[in-house]
Amino acid sequence: MAKVLAIANQKGGCGKTTVAINLSACLSMQGKRTLLVDMDPQGHCGLGLAVPEEQVEQSIYDVLSRSDDTPVNMEKVIWQIGKNFDLAPASLELAAFEQQFAGMPGREMRLKNVLDSVADKYDYCVIDCPPAVSLLTFNALRAANAVIIPVETGYFSVHGLKKQLETLEMLKKQCGQELTIKVVANLYDVRTKLGREMLGEMRKQFGHLMFQTYVNFNIKIKEGSSLGQAISEYDSSSMGFKDFSKLAQEVIKAFEPAVSIENVVNVETQAVADDLMSKAESLSRRAEELLQESASTLGKEPKIIQQAPVEEKLELVYGVTRTEDGIKFLADYPHASQVCVAGDFNNWSADATPMNRLDQVEKNGAWEVTIPVETGRYRYRYVVDGAWQHDPHNNYVESNPYGELNSVIEV
Ligand SMILES: Nc1ncnc2c1ncn2[C@@H]1O[C@H](COP(=O)(O)OP(=O)(O)OP(=O)(O)O)[C@@H](O)[C@H]1O
Ligand SMILES: [Mg+2]
Repeated sequence: MAKVLAIANQKGGCGKTTVAINLSACLSMQGKRTLLVDMDPQGHCGLGLAVPEEQVEQSIYDVLSRSDDTPVNMEKVIWQIGKNFDLAPASLELAAFEQQFAGMPGREMRLKNVLDSVADKYDYCVIDCPPAVSLLTFNALRAANAVIIPVETGYFSVHGLKKQLETLEMLKKQCGQELTIKVVANLYDVRTKLGREMLGEMRKQFGHLMFQTYVNFNIKIKEGSSLGQAISEYDSSSMGFKDFSKLAQEVIKAFEPAVSIENVVNVETQAVADDLMSKAESLSRRAEELLQESASTLGKEPKIIQQAPVEEKLELVYGVTRTEDGIKFLADYPHASQVCVAGDFNNWSADATPMNRLDQVEKNGAWEVTIPVETGRYRYRYVVDGAWQHDPHNNYVESNPYGELNSVIEV
């Protein structure tokens, strides 16, 4: 079931379309099937993604304004932009929507009905709203689980945010629906004193609603959109790409409750324990058979053979486990000469946290280290003889901006 995010702010030019396009692109890069829906008659999403306006035969307007007995046919509207990334473009006709449906019952639910028809096909629907509190924006809010408000990090925008939030609260009450409100600071310029002060002020007043991630002013974002490219396509080494990748990760974290380390470890521990138990049982059966055989051939009483203690073998649960001293990492690289763990807890240093080779016969090839960490969520990778890789014994992973996987733990 798709999570629906409306990108809204009645103030023009604060970066709604920029956030909608680039957040969608980065969500799709992180493996999330994403539909970007343009609800602004200006049609800037199509422009910003090089969809030729004259070739848009059916737009979101056509499905919104269809008669009630006509089924929704989104296939004719949707354009594929990239892997996991689709767009439902807008057209100028959308400007007539408000007048056309004035006074009609259910007019504010029309987008929700449309998106419900494709909810199984996507993980996220991101809606770009026009700069107004109009029926189009109202449709977006009724369809949404969350509204993301981009705010320019400047004096007037920050002071206008309070009003903006009051309007949203009022709309929320009017329609009586659950709607998470999140704010993202945009167009931040760290070099200006005003920028720094305004970000501080925003955090002070609205910190509880804000994403940790803020989007810096980055000329590459502007250049990309003027060439019809999301920042992921235009320049994946830019600060703009880093900011939007981080924002996408934060969105995923906020809207998809993560599997906790306890669950991961418990499931894995149980699987390994079951496997070892069944191996131990079959070994002991085989030992009994051998003893019976030797007893019958030699005519002697069988000796009792001590079964290998299963607990000892259970220490071989590779991956991450929580211990009293912190998080224990146990990796299985028998041929490596050096293994380190790098992650959020050591600034991603490739060599700050070397793992110790366990040389006992039973544990040959295993590498171990325990790191004391505070409660939180950490991403990490192993550095095996200089080569970075995710932990193959931890199923909890997420994509990183380099198209690879980070392993994740929650403590
Ligand atoms: N972080 C950024 N870095 C550089 N330029 C940006 C950034 N965010 C937005 N812009 C630029 O600011 C301008 C306005 O952004 P955008 O069109 O996304 O705003 P908007 O809120 O959608 O506007 P409207 O209210 O008209 O729909 C665009 O030229 C865009 O390229
Ligand atoms: Mg816009």
